[in-house]
Amino acid sequence: MIPPTCETVFALIIINKAGGLIYNKTFHEAGLNKVGTNDLLVLAGTFHGVHAITARLNPLKTAGDRTSTASASGMLNRPEPPTGLEVLESENFRLQCFTTMTGVKFLLFTDTTQANVDVTIRRIYDLYSDYVMKNPFYQLEMPVRCDMFDRKLLSYVREINNR
Ligand SMILES: *[C@@H]1O[C@H](CO)[C@@H](O)[C@H](O)[C@H]1NC(C)=O
Repeated sequence: MIPPTCETVFALIIINKAGGLIYNKTFHEAGLNKVGTNDLLVLAGTFHGVHAITARLNPLKTAGDRTSTASASGMLNRPEPPTGLEVLESENFRLQCFTTMTGVKFLLFTDTTQANVDVTIRRIYDLYSDYVMKNPFYQLEMPVRCDMFDRKLLSYVREINNR
């Protein structure tokens, strides 16, 4: 018998807009071997740098023209800014990045078969908005240490991993 596809969220890291690691969580029960502190910092910094470069790469025909253009309906049609690197994939995992309006990056490590990662990462961003951003003791750009966020995140991911 073929086992059901096991979809798993392995880990989450959050990077501030300067490229510093401000949050890391490995969901142990999922079984991705632990990445050392140093490697995590390197990963965060490297991803940040590569992301910045890839965000500047775009097709030549739009490169010089970032101004608004009028569409057929006469509405102003501003081109979306390039997003930069969004997904990294290996044989064993998939890393998806979500960048907020303020430049905070959420990097989610999942199984390569995981579906709807966008939805998952958005939901995690919602939790961050509710339990980190609305926490009066949280200082922007600083490491995230919020119990409520930890707990909500853990129970949300557990729900996905046990599906
Ligand atoms: C990862 O998170 C733990 C707490 O969950 C923290 O103690 C540790 O310092 C963090 N590592 C890094 C590199 O920020």
